[in-house]
Amino acid sequence: MVIGEMVVSMSDGRRKVVMNGSLVDWEDAKVHVSTHGLLYGSGVFEGIRAYADREGKQLFVFRLNEHVRRIFRNAKVLNLKPPVSEKEFSDKIVDLLRVNDHHTDVYIRPMIYFGTGGIGIRPSKQSTEYFIFTQEMGGYFSTRRPLNVGVSSWTRITNNSLPPSAKVSGAYVNSMIASVDAVQSGYDEALFMTQNGYVCEGAGENIFIVKGGSLVTPPPSADILEGITRDAVIRLAGDMGIRVVERDISRTELYTCDEIFLCGTAAQITPIGSVDRKQVGDGSEGEITAKLNASFESLVRGGDGRYSSWLTPVYPALVQKTA
Ligand SMILES: Cc1ncc(COP(=O)(O)O)c(C=O)c1O
Repeated sequence: MVIGEMVVSMSDGRRKVVMNGSLVDWEDAKVHVSTHGLLYGSGVFEGIRAYADREGKQLFVFRLNEHVRRIFRNAKVLNLKPPVSEKEFSDKIVDLLRVNDHHTDVYIRPMIYFGTGGIGIRPSKQSTEYFIFTQEMGGYFSTRRPLNVGVSSWTRITNNSLPPSAKVSGAYVNSMIASVDAVQSGYDEALFMTQNGYVCEGAGENIFIVKGGSLVTPPPSADILEGITRDAVIRLAGDMGIRVVERDISRTELYTCDEIFLCGTAAQITPIGSVDRKQVGDGSEGEITAKLNASFESLVRGGDGRYSSWLTPVYPALVQKTA
């Protein structure tokens, strides 16, 4: 069964979902039509990945604490008050992975949102609700070759209108229309420019360019989501002795730089082969991108002890064996 680019092989009859703390069957994980989060997009969410180790026995959640910290901080932007602590929320995620018995790469989608209690725009009597579901997931894009991307005619929402940094569900309509438009125009993904005319990010990914051996990426002030994968790439590059610069990037630099890649929880590290039909480098994955990609792929599966603090093992009985 295919949902978007995600292939679901687990029988949905067995899959459980956490709804407000309780485990419910996949088919019963429903919300009421008057849910504020549905009517107005007033929720914050996360995308988290867990990776199988090489033997397919252990599963490691990648940077779980950072994701949970981010959703709790973002909840504050909307005045959402999660009914559980960060620790309880993290535990529920790990428990759910165990209950659903995942042993292959999986994507985890938690969301905290306003529930029912009236139809006014300003939430008043609504409770704060949450759910967590899991979904098997390999690659995010339907192709394995470097992506052909196009600069979108839709610009990014701004931090003083609808903060892209807060991962608000309603804000993703901006990403959706740009992404659909890009695919209808024959591209694999959209690249956003900021309202000030600088490079921002992909519809659901951060962007890095490689120029003269250094990595360059837009700063948080360029209306990006400060990605956890972006942060990991900055750390990895530093550990490899590659210089990283955060600064505004012009559209022209996309056409003249040596390499470009997107990164994010879903996209992981994805090379770009062309922008606006102009080839990047020789059109294949660049040297620095490939190095970062290989290192990332190894560390998320527990293959590099320097980054083990980023991984939360799901199956405790296997911790000794895999440590
Ligand atoms: C708009 C946008 N930018 C960047 C990212 C990458 O962020 P992260 O690496 O934390 O998944 C995402 C994905 O969550 C996103 O939706």
